[in-house]
Order: sequence, then structure tokens, then C-alpha cells
Amino acid sequence: MGWVHRRRDHGGVIFIDLRDREGLLQVVCDPDRAATFAVAEKLRNEFVVRVTGTVRPRPEGSANPGLASGEVEVLAHEVEILNAALTPPFQLDDENISETVRLENRVIDLRRPAMQRNLMLRHRASMAARRYLDANGFIDIETPVLYKSTPEGAREFLVPSRINHGLFYALPQSPQLFKQMLMMAGFDRYYQIVKCFRDEDLRADRQPEFTQIDIETSFLDEDGVREVMEPLVRAIFRDAIGVELADPFPIMTFAQAMRDYGSDKPDLRVPLKLTELTDLMKGVEFKVFRAAADLPNGRVAALRVPGGGTLTRKEIDDYTAFAKIYGAGGLAYIKVNDAAKPNEEGLQSPIVKFLSAEVLAAIVERTGAATGDLVFFSADREKVVNDALGALRAKVGHERGLAEPGWKPLWVVDFPMFEYDEEKRTWAARHHPFTAPKDGHEDLFETDPGHALAKAYDVVLNGWELGGGSVRIHRQEVQQKVFRALSMSPEDQRKKFGFLLDALAYGAPPHAGIAFGFDRMVAMMAGVEQIRDVIAFPKTQRGQDLLIDTPAPVTEQQLRDLHIRIRATDSAKHV
Ligand code: AMO
Ligand code: AMP
Repeated sequence: MGWVHRRRDHGGVIFIDLRDREGLLQVVCDPDRAATFAVAEKLRNEFVVRVTGTVRPRPEGSANPGLASGEVEVLAHEVEILNAALTPPFQLDDENISETVRLENRVIDLRRPAMQRNLMLRHRASMAARRYLDANGFIDIETPVLYKSTPEGAREFLVPSRINHGLFYALPQSPQLFKQMLMMAGFDRYYQIVKCFRDEDLRADRQPEFTQIDIETSFLDEDGVREVMEPLVRAIFRDAIGVELADPFPIMTFAQAMRDYGSDKPDLRVPLKLTELTDLMKGVEFKVFRAAADLPNGRVAALRVPGGGTLTRKEIDDYTAFAKIYGAGGLAYIKVNDAAKPNEEGLQSPIVKFLSAEVLAAIVERTGAATGDLVFFSADREKVVNDALGALRAKVGHERGLAEPGWKPLWVVDFPMFEYDEEKRTWAARHHPFTAPKDGHEDLFETDPGHALAKAYDVVLNGWELGGGSVRIHRQEVQQKVFRALSMSPEDQRKKFGFLLDALAYGAPPHAGIAFGFDRMVAMMAGVEQIRDVIAFPKTQRGQDLLIDTPAPVTEQQLRDLHIRIRATDSAKHV
């Protein structure tokens, strides 16, 4: 039984490509069987049929090596139409359908072999994770979806309470505090493959509701977490796609990642590194470089592009425009025509005349630039330089064929505890406020919060953040210190997190955990660019589900029941 993928009428014989989730099978309908043939003539694409017949080898020379069933075919004795179908809005094997049309017709879109493969891969990955976690003593415990609004990072979705006038639940950004409380409750090792909800700007690798493999364990420190979590990632890749990932994953500090790659999720397939030039540029004549080098949080760095001497004016302009997306004011460059002459003779660039012979020689030496290379420069606030050159490094590397194939996982560790929120002018938790500081670093909270490091770690693969976690705070006074560093008053702490502070006071074990972005992991294994392609019913960039058409208006009565009145604005679309 299955769907008619294609019907081919070969004048006299009708071939049907019968499709189910495992693939295609060729069915032959012979005019000798008149009744069967008559039914076959009525078949159209996407009809659902039952075929009874004889499996036989295909005739000599007509095997199809492109099909799993390509050696055989079924000679139909009987064909029964189980259901007819309208002409589908698009051909299933048409690769050029807009995503809007695909999402509006998701039921049909999901029939496409590629989508069936993606979702079956997702299933295999989730089963691999469950097998590994079960075998290692992690137990699956469900946690509430109606949670509470708390300042944990992203914006939340709110859910009004009908029976508690004026009060709201929030959907959890993750089960973070529930899993910690399960450790405090003595469950020792927990996992859940769980939906998380975040009302954030959506991108290719972000959905408002997404799935985590969420894990917590008692009594393990950073090393212990890596020891149990690395084999999980390896097991998933092995079981789902037969790929053996590196053992062990390399470990890189956050500081090293930013210095060498300008990113906390470096794509190590691209072998290029940034070169530090800040110290060299203090006091140079070229004002753009000097000004950045003299800033307290400034940076001047270079990116050597091997063989980049062949880049055209237009290509350089395009890369400059790309760097500007990240806030860069410009992208200076030097073409190395002769590395043995690091001066106006061997170096070609509008900025050479502003740099001394020593500085030019040092640039060539530090970047390791050879004849025929090009060196890009970015000078700005550290964040801008890292964002711009970090992104440029990956782009140039892939576009110029410098990337190595395969899988490059790594751990990034020693993240800062806090980052400064320029808008709100306060410190914010870089991971979340329940993350433990490195031993002794709580002493920096008052004096130098920017340099306090956390026992936080990410798993990065080919430039994507696959997962992140931390050792948690298990002492009440340290938790209060962190809340204070985040400018939360004692009253606010009680109101928002009284339940946590209380649980910490009654014998909380040391504990740690991690969460993997399951959609991202599956997308990478499936080789697709966006996680929508591995989610059965995803949302668009505007947070809409085009199949069921939501978000959608509700009735005045429903709003009344919830004690809610919609404010009139231009964009409100309510009945
Ligand atoms: P974090 O916020 O880093 O940590 O999330 C963990 C992983 O989830 C994935 N992810 C997403 N995937 C798709 N769409 C999104 N909007 C989205 N947001 C995050 C990423 C990320 O690495 N509770 C902590 C984990 C912990 O400390 O144990 C947490 O949620 O792959
Ligand atoms: P200008 O003096 O503005 O004409 O810039 C000279 C060169 O420096 C040009 O190639 C610019 O692209 C480059 N440039 C300008 N601002 C920056 C910056 N912040 N970082 C790196 N290069 C820059």
C-alpha cells in the first residue's frame, strides 16, 4: 500500500512508482489483466492504492541502481484505489518550490522523500540519545510547561490564567530550574527531550519552540560532565548517520577562541586564524588603527587569506560590505606581491604609506603572509573586530575552498560569568544566573565583574553551537551573590526565585548539566541549512504556522474570560 508517486503510460503497459516512507517500488500493470489495467488508467499522482501482485526480477538490463528496490518490480494482479487525490499544489520532486508554498501545504511537503528521510533521521537520533542516557543511569522526568515569568535570558511567552485574575504563567525557556530541583530532590541523573519556548528574533537556526536534549547530573564537575556527554554526542552521530566523531573533542578556552577565531563557536574546518596586532598599532601614523589600539576595549587584528592576492577589486569590496554588516567601519587590506620586500615595493595597499617599515615587517612576520597572499585588517572595539573578522574568516575560508571536509567538534570552556548590557547599563548573566563561578572568582563580582569566569561550557560543531551548560551554584550565599551582581534586590530575589533559594538551603548536592539543541544537531546530520527542514510543523520567520494558520484571532468572549482587553494599535488583528 502506498501513494502513486508517478504513473507512466508506455502505450500498452502502465508503470506506477509506488511510494511509501521507505522509498519507491515499480509496479507493472499489464493490459492482459483488463480490470486491473482499467483501474491503473484512472490513477493519478498521490492516489492511495493497494496493489496485490508478484515480485519478480526486472528484465535483463532494466535494473535501476538509483533505487533501493531497483532490481525488482511487482507485476500487479489487482489494484484497488483506497482514496483519490486532487492534483497536488506542486510536484513532489520539484526542487524549486517556495518555502511559503511548502509550509502552507506541509502535509504534502512532508511526503517528499527528503523530508521523510529528515524526520526518520530525527527519530534515530532521539532513540540513540535515549539508549545512551538510559544505559548511563539518566532517567526521563517530565517538567511543567506552564511555568513562571523569570529573568533568565530570552523574552518569554506569557499565558494568562483564567482562574487567577490578572496573573500569568510563562512558557519555560528551558526546564533549567526544574532539573536543578530534581537534583536537589535526589534523582541524581535526569534527562528529557523537551520543548523549550523563546520569543526571540528568528533565524535559520532558531525557532520560537525548539527541542533540547536536556540533561542534569549530581556530583560531577566540568571534567565529569565532558566525560559523560562527549560519548553521547558520538553515539548519536554514530547511530544516526554512521559518523565517528573525534575522541576526545579538543578543548579551547573562550579567550583563546575569541583571540584566534573571533568567535565562541569557531568553525574549525577553516584552518585560518586571526593575528593579534593591537600592541603593534599603538602609536602608528594610520589613525584608524591607532585609535582602535588605544581604546580600552579596542582591537586591531588581521586575517591572512592564502592565495588572496588574486582577489579582484569587486571581491574585496564585497567582503568589505560583508564586514560592515557586523558594524566594521571598513576593511583595510594589503596584497603581498613579494613577501621578501615588506615595504612599498613588495606590499600593495592604500595604507602601506601610513605604516613604518618595522610595523610592515612585523605584520608580514606575525601573519606568516607569503607572496601571493592578501591580509585583511579590522580595527575597532573588540566586539566589532571579533564579529566582523570571525564571520569573514568562515566566509572566506569556505568560499575560497580552504575548508577541510568532515566534522570538527570542540568544547569551548571558561566563559565569562557576565556580559555588560549597554542598553540597560547593567551586567547580565552570560549563560544563566544559576551558573557557578570558577573557584575564587566570586570575589571579582564587586570589583571586576567583567573578568569573573564561569564553569560554563559549550559543544561546538562546524561553527554551530550544538549545546551548552554549566556547573551550577549549589550554595545559597553564592546564588545570592550572583543575583546581587545582576542588580536584583533581596525582595526581588525572593519574589522571583524564593523557591530556588529555599531548596538550596536544605542540602542541595553539587550538580551540573547541559542542553543540546536537538533541532540543530539533526539539521547538521541531515546536511540542511535551516532547522525548519527537520521539524515536522515549524514556524516561519514571523512566528507563524502557515498550515494551521496561527497565531489567530480569538473571540471577545474568550478574552473576557481571561480578563484581557486588547489595546488598539495599527498592527492588532483582533475580532
Ligand atoms: P542554551 O540557552 O544555551 O542553554 O540552550 C541550549 C541549546 O539549545 C539550542 N537553542 C536553540 N535551538 C533552536 N532554536 C532556538 N531558539 C534555540 N535556543 C537555543 C542551542 C543551544 O546550545 N538551560 C540551559 C542549558 C543548561 O545550562 O543546562 C540552556 O537552555 O543549540
Ligand atoms: P580611509 O582612511 O577611511 O579611506 O580608510 C583607509 C582604509 O582603511 C580603507 O581600505 C578602509 O576600508 C580601511 N578602514 C577604515 N576603517 C577601518 C576599520 N575600522 N578597520 C579596518 N580598516 C578600516
